[in-house]
Parts: sequence; C-alpha cells; structure tokens
Amino acid sequence: MAQHLVHDRSQRLSEVPSATAVAHRYADTLDDAREFVLPVIREILEDLDPDVRRVCAYHQGWVDADGRPADGNTGKLLRPALVLLSARAAGGDVADAVHAAAATEMVHAFSLLHDDIMDGDEERRHRPTAWKAFGVPMALLAGDALLSLSHSVLLARPTPGAISALRRLAADTQRLIAGQRLDLAFEEGKQVTVTEYEAMAGGKTAALMASSCAIGAEVVGGSKTLVEGLAYFGARLGLAFQISDDILGIWGDPWNTGKAGRSDLVRRKKTYPVVAALSADGAAAERLRAYYRATEPLSQSELVEVASLIEEAGGLAEAHRAVAGCLAETERILGMLGLPAEARDSLLAVAAMMTGRNH
Ligand code: IPE
Ligand code: IPE
Ligand code: MG
Ligand code: MG
Repeated sequence: MAQHLVHDRSQRLSEVPSATAVAHRYADTLDDAREFVLPVIREILEDLDPDVRRVCAYHQGWVDADGRPADGNTGKLLRPALVLLSARAAGGDVADAVHAAAATEMVHAFSLLHDDIMDGDEERRHRPTAWKAFGVPMALLAGDALLSLSHSVLLARPTPGAISALRRLAADTQRLIAGQRLDLAFEEGKQVTVTEYEAMAGGKTAALMASSCAIGAEVVGGSKTLVEGLAYFGARLGLAFQISDDILGIWGDPWNTGKAGRSDLVRRKKTYPVVAALSADGAAAERLRAYYRATEPLSQSELVEVASLIEEAGGLAEAHRAVAGCLAETERILGMLGLPAEARDSLLAVAAMMTGRNH
C-alpha cells in the first residue's frame, strides 16, 4: 500500500528542482507515517484505562485537556517515517513495518511525557505539557502505558524479524534512559567534554533513532549487514538531530518550535553549543564559565547575555560544524550500503530536513 503510493510520488519528483524535491520527499514520507501509523496507535490506545488514555490522546494532539476532539499537532512523526523508509531500503513490504513504526513513536511519546517532568518544561507542541494539564502522576502513568503498549503493538505483526526488533528497541530504550540520566547529571555544574556530551545525546536521542532506522529492515527480513548499517546511520543522524535541537533550544523561535525559549539555559543544560563554548579560549568563554559556575537563577536579561556569549565564544559555529560532520558520515554510510536509489534518496532527504528544520 504505502509502497505503491510512494512509488507514484517519487516519479513526480524527477521533474522538480532538487531542493524542492528534497522537501517533497520529506513531506511525502511524513504523510505516509501519518496515514498508516497514527490509526494503529489510536487503535492500541483503546485498550487503556479511559483516564490514562485521555492523557495519551492529549499528548498526541487528538483531544484537548477536557477530552474534546482537537485538530492538534501530533509532532513530526520522524521516527515512524524512518521505520517505513528502513523497510523500503530492505526491499520489504511497508505494510509489515507499520506496527514497528507505531512502536517507535510510542516509545518517543513515553520519553517526552517523562522528559517534560524531568526538565520542568511547561510547553510542548504549542500547548501546555501533559504534566501541566493533568498533573505529574497522570503524565507518568500515560508514559508508562505507552512504553508497555509499544511492545504489544510491535508484536501485533509477528513477522520472523519482530522478536529481534523488539529486543533491539528494548535495548535502545535502556540507552535512552541512561542518556537521560547523564543529561540530568550534567546540569549539576560539572565540566562536560564533547565526548561526554556524545555519550549523553547518543543515549537520550540517537539510540531511538538508531532503532527506528534499523527495525523497519529487521521486521521485513533485511540482512544483518543492512540492519546494522542502518542502525549506525540512525545513530549519527540522531546525534545531528539532537545538536540541531540544542541550537533551536537557544536561538529558535518558540512560535515555530512550540516550546518555551531558552529553557535549556534556565536549567544550565550542557547542550552542544554550551559545551563547545565553555571549553573555548577568550573573554566571552571566560564570562560564560562564570555564569555556569554560579547556581543562582538567571534573569531574562542574563539569559539573553548567556546566549550571546555562547555565540561569541564560537559555540553556535561549532555546533553547526558538528551537525555537518555527522551528516557527511550518514551520507558515507548510506553510500556503502548499496540501497535502492529511491530509498537512499528519501533517507537523505529526511536527514537533511531533520537537521535543517526550524521546529
Ligand atoms: C523532540 O523530538 C525530542 C528530541 C529528541 C530532541 P521531536 O522534535 O521529534 O518531537 P516531535 O515528536 O516532532 O514533537
Ligand atoms: C530529548 O530530550 C530526548 C528525550 C526526550 C528522551 P530534550 O529534553 O533535549 O528534548 P526537548 O527539547 O525537551 O524536546
Ligand atoms: Mg526536554
Ligand atoms: Mg531533557
């Protein structure tokens, strides 16, 4: 089904300029995720306790806080889109990967519900976060429910590769949890190196991206070499994605991101631009280090100054360089995997858009 649609769309693409083609490929890939994966998530949520289901449905943007239907923002659906592309890269039937795709989005949703509590963030996808709307206990339960149902949904399509895909997803979820632990530990004033940052972001974000890029191929019976190659592609893409998210967290416009601006700076998170700037030479870096040694809350004007100091000390430029480096590696890996041109181009289009986004 999805495969057929995607094929028709890709024929259209050969006639349009390349920047536009990339944007079209990205939009079409996300449309497939929306069309085929969201109904599967909706269906499995039917099994939940109604009060917990309402929090999950709110987080997905389907209802408002009172349970009335909302025409809301479900998020970009990047992870399920990557799962579907991964299945296509293995030459498989995309229909066999839809449940695995739903599973990755549900693990993602679990992680966001809990992350917003840990980070104390009050806004996501242009709305109050679930813990703000329903309280911490209900947001915790909704996250727990989504994590456990993610396993059920994956096994609802029991292809020969489903068990190993589930093992991979569970192991990567453990990496996500370990990464979140590091992210929180790094708030505590300690000096963080780029290598330590990579261990943290490699866990909290890149691990699930790695699973997303691998398990589509895995559930349709792709070779071990392909599955591992795609996992590595996803891990580098995930790192680039997190660094881009770090940039947006400081310099992005809340109007586009749907999240409160500079909340990472408020919590003195060791995001990539901050880590790079704190280890730089010069007066701006020295003043920045003083801000990060202190523990008093930062005022609005101090937050503005901290953002300028990070840029002046080279943190923004260094972050852009790191994103470009990861992306070059993703291209190199895909080149080595010998994928069908159409699947390769779609993966590269999604990678480019994921890291060049404003939301
Ligand atoms: C946000 O992920 C959390 C990170 C890993 C940076 P997304 O930017 O994919 O979130 P949604 O699902 O589109 O809202
Ligand atoms: C991203 O966390 C990773 C997880 C949620 C597991 P962040 O805290 O960096 O992402 P945002 O900015 O809240 O979306
Ligand atoms: Mg957060
Ligand atoms: Mg966080």
